[in-house]
Amino acid sequence: MSTIVAPSLLAADFLNLERDIYMLNRSEADWIHLDIMDGIFVPNLSFGFAVTNLLKGVTQKPLDTHLMIVQPEKFTEEVAATGSTFMNVHYEVCPHLHRVVQQIRGKGMKPAVTLNPHTPVSVLEDILSELDMVLLMSVNPGFGGQQFIEQTLGKVARLKKMIEERGLKTLIQVDGGVNLQTGRKLVDAGADVLVAGSYIFSSDDPEEAIRGLKAL
Ligand code: DX5
Ligand code: ZN
Repeated sequence: MSTIVAPSLLAADFLNLERDIYMLNRSEADWIHLDIMDGIFVPNLSFGFAVTNLLKGVTQKPLDTHLMIVQPEKFTEEVAATGSTFMNVHYEVCPHLHRVVQQIRGKGMKPAVTLNPHTPVSVLEDILSELDMVLLMSVNPGFGGQQFIEQTLGKVARLKKMIEERGLKTLIQVDGGVNLQTGRKLVDAGADVLVAGSYIFSSDDPEEAIRGLKAL
């Protein structure tokens, strides 16, 4: 299976958002990754449903919504209404994670759980079989353009082992500081899905940057 590439819209040019979405449509990108922030769980705000609701009219690419917010369970209905395929919630904000995962599936979406850089993969032992994907943050969430945290590579390998031991098909996604060099190491360690924002959108040829990541 070739690497799944999910460009993060956070790094797009919001004055030319339609142009950037058409670029993604033409490209080999597999999904579009949407970063929603609340200024509470993470020290930044991004965009909300007013923006993400517009996408289903202009792209056929599956949407992957990464909620960096407290109480994400309040918004399953809204995320489903955007046409999102994946709803990604942080482990650190869900005391009743099992229930949230069921709620996401109940709305017809695929549940994914995100771990901050300091959160060990072992916390997922008893929920892994319920998940379609695990997102390992390779930067502290809240901003694009940060430096990749190398310890993520060991986490990817440990999570891969947990998935294989259980005979599961759970995807491993990594988000933050992904470029051709870090992407190569991540794929070698067992990552299935690479999220990349600034590497793609600050490139002179974003379509070529996407092609490069896909070929890893
Ligand atoms: C960070 C977001 C990422 C971000 C990645 O909090 O979750 O999706 O857009 O940006 P880069 O690829 O620039 O590190
Ligand atoms: Zn993200």
